[in-house]
Amino acid sequence: MPKVTFQPSGKVVEVETDTSVLEAALENDIHLEHACGGFAACTTCHVLVEAGSENLSEIEEDEEDMLDTVEGGTLRSRLGCQARIQDDVIVTIPMTPY
Ligand code: FES
Repeated sequence: MPKVTFQPSGKVVEVETDTSVLEAALENDIHLEHACGGFAACTTCHVLVEAGSENLSEIEEDEEDMLDTVEGGTLRSRLGCQARIQDDVIVTIPMTPY
């Protein structure tokens, strides 16, 4: 099963293939905001992909549009609710003002 490492805590969890980063966090008691409930309509589930970006589902248009509005967004940014895990990844949950 794919492994997801959440920074900054360093917690490593195993998830089923195709689980979203948000689901992986919530199922394992890792705090990740999700104000819109996972519909690519907010940016509170923003994460930074440190490694394994090729092991996440492709960015679709809805997600890309929202990522353009993320404060502190980078080329490594993903929405946790949209990025589906195919293999091992390392992500950072940024400090957010929410
Ligand atoms: S929870 Fe709103 S975009 Fe992911």
